[in-house]
Amino acid sequence: MNALQLERRIIIISVVFVLTLFGVAALAINFFHVGLPTCLTDIKPFQKGELITHSPTHYEVHYVARMWEFDPEEIVVPVGSTVDIYVTAKDVTHGLILLGTDLNLMAVPGVVNYARVRFDREGVHQLLCHEYCGTGHEQMAAKLRVVDFATFQAKQSAPAPPPQPTDPTYKLLEAKDCLTCHSIDGSDGIGPTLKGIYGRQTKLADGSMITADDVYLRESIVHPEAKIVNGFDNVMPKPELTDEEVNAIVEYLENLK
Ligand code: CUA
Repeated sequence: MNALQLERRIIIISVVFVLTLFGVAALAINFFHVGLPTCLTDIKPFQKGELITHSPTHYEVHYVARMWEFDPEEIVVPVGSTVDIYVTAKDVTHGLILLGTDLNLMAVPGVVNYARVRFDREGVHQLLCHEYCGTGHEQMAAKLRVVDFATFQAKQSAPAPPPQPTDPTYKLLEAKDCLTCHSIDGSDGIGPTLKGIYGRQTKLADGSMITADDVYLRESIVHPEAKIVNGFDNVMPKPELTDEEVNAIVEYLENLK
């Protein structure tokens, strides 16, 4: 075998080797569902970047790092408090340091990292990304403010969160998935909004008008396909409801102004 033949053979063997590796990787991905780590940013505590209060001196916050920001962008805690800080990443690996403290965590997709920090002095801490993550890396910053307790309380009590509906019929509507398609705030979804539905002049798909009274509401719940509101599709499944539940829903809708 001359040098040329040997070289050719080496090239062929290495190409076959590399192709085999790709093949095995492709098989692994398809048959064993090997993939990228699951996105933890979809789990509950990470969805709303807000401060969770355990006690007046103990708080918890979940940061999502992504190109190129931290969410929440700013939090305020009272002086003397302990804060449990969790962080994960949505896209690539980031880092998180909180200047003026010992906090230094990696923000890794699919992983939650944690540290506990105590804040004994008032002031503003810069939260920075310390892992090069692309062209916007140096803009990646957030703020953590430590304020005295009175200021903190004033800030907390300012915007009251909207009250969670506690009406049992609201809960029933939620449990039966009605609210997936019907809003109660006036916005149309897959189905018409339930807000102000009672007594509403309603145009049906065949062009006729109807007043949404008891009879109509009841029929539309029990036999959703009977009368279709103009502009919507006949897609509502027949719900499984007892007579009492239907009565309760009709009554609820009469009062949903
Ligand atoms: Cu994120 Cu650097």
